[in-house]
Amino acid sequence: MTTHTLFPTIVYAAALQPRGAKAFNAQLLREIRQLRADDAAGRRWSERNYPGGYTSYGSASRMHLASPTFAALERLLARHVRAYSRALGLDLTGRKLSMTDCWANIMPFHVAHGLHLHPLSTISGTYYVRTPAGSPGIKLEDPRLDRMMAAPPRRERGRNDHRPWVVLPATAGRVVLFESWLRHEVPPNLVRTDRISVSFNYSWF
Ligand code: NI
Repeated sequence: MTTHTLFPTIVYAAALQPRGAKAFNAQLLREIRQLRADDAAGRRWSERNYPGGYTSYGSASRMHLASPTFAALERLLARHVRAYSRALGLDLTGRKLSMTDCWANIMPFHVAHGLHLHPLSTISGTYYVRTPAGSPGIKLEDPRLDRMMAAPPRRERGRNDHRPWVVLPATAGRVVLFESWLRHEVPPNLVRTDRISVSFNYSWF
């Protein structure tokens, strides 16, 4: 007897760099807090679209072009994006994946980020800058869920890859990459310390 695992949803997770995460994250943290202080348009955008939190998604969404620290993040991400595109089996002959957007997120106590995907992009992901103990991970949804109309539920304690939702931990210094069509959310932050991250999109040019 044989079973085949077909059409896998491949998600990538790794430490961004072998060493130096602490100093790098401290610098990112300073810049992200300064950005929030300076970015009145972003604070207004966040009030409407990310209640209680701050994101520069609507105002300063190309931070890799605006700050040497975020540009360094883009350089450090390059090998991870290459490894991930190899794992996905992408044929990029004659074209390449480039970072199009890169923005900062501050998630305080009781703030959540609802289910969404990243249209018009190829690969998306997040680098975690500050993840207080007990702060939420990233919750990924089985992309076939809307077709499972009469399917029985999956065992609560079953294998991760059998479940309709999987939460991957968010850990400072680590990066998570996924294909941009994969729906995801960040459940509410139930600890009193801000959870801080940088998210980004890559497109195929
Ligand atoms: Ni997202």
